[in-house]
Amino acid sequence: MLLLLLLTNAFVLLPWAGAGRIVGGREVMPHSRPYMAYLDIKSGPYSYSCGGFLIRPDTVLSAAHCVAMKWAVRVTVILGAHNISAQEQSQQKIPVGQWVIHPEYSSAGTKNDIVLLKLKQRAMINKNVQCISIAKENERVEEGAECSVSGWGRISTRCDMTSDVLREVEMKVQNEEICEQVFHNYHCQSMICVGVENRNKGTYKGDSGGPLVCNKKAHGIVSYGPQGNVFPEVFTRISHFEPWIHKQLRRFALQDTPGSKSSD
Ligand SMILES: *[C@@H]1O[C@H](CO)[C@@H](O)[C@H](O)[C@H]1NC(C)=O
Repeated sequence: MLLLLLLTNAFVLLPWAGAGRIVGGREVMPHSRPYMAYLDIKSGPYSYSCGGFLIRPDTVLSAAHCVAMKWAVRVTVILGAHNISAQEQSQQKIPVGQWVIHPEYSSAGTKNDIVLLKLKQRAMINKNVQCISIAKENERVEEGAECSVSGWGRISTRCDMTSDVLREVEMKVQNEEICEQVFHNYHCQSMICVGVENRNKGTYKGDSGGPLVCNKKAHGIVSYGPQGNVFPEVFTRISHFEPWIHKQLRRFALQDTPGSKSSD
């Protein structure tokens, strides 16, 4: 309860409200989305959570707005979770050592909303914790594609709507014009317009930073949505950022080579 109230305050500082709203979501089979990461974030007086996803044993991808705060931010990643409130054997809690926010991230208009989080230790890969492939530069997801998005949906304005367990909803990639009409900052190269039209039953809010998965690959990152409405939503378009992501991964790998290990 306290967390939710604090959270509401934190949102005021952000350009988005209700990002990652999950419509008609349902609980997933436990551990059927082994790439999902729960981000436990502390920033100044605030505690909140985001979603993310494992792309390398030591790297999680998420939304920049989750960590781009005024105060110092501390992030712990929880992998292998289903019920985030339970003490599950499958869970691996790993602190984040450093992260790289996209240099052109801008909270105004939520542009380039992407961050790479480098874990302090590599995750142990097993049946509950696995990486997901990301879309390549030339793999642009098109209108009509059927995708899904999952999250713990802890972010809610109504306490009775929170969920401890991982939920998922199917979503369809929409015509860019729909988002262009609603969001004047919509940029079709770097964003994906997604939503489920005319379906209001069972509205939940998922965590920002979670993946939009189409055909078993991560194509988008939950970024922002309209205030007081459930349609449409904007996701960060991963294919556009793929060259940048790989550059950062090479940089991370370089830091790990013997002789140049950093102190964290
Ligand atoms: C999650 O775990 C907590 C703590 O064990 C429990 O109280 C809660 O009922 C669980 N939630 C679900 C949906 O199973």
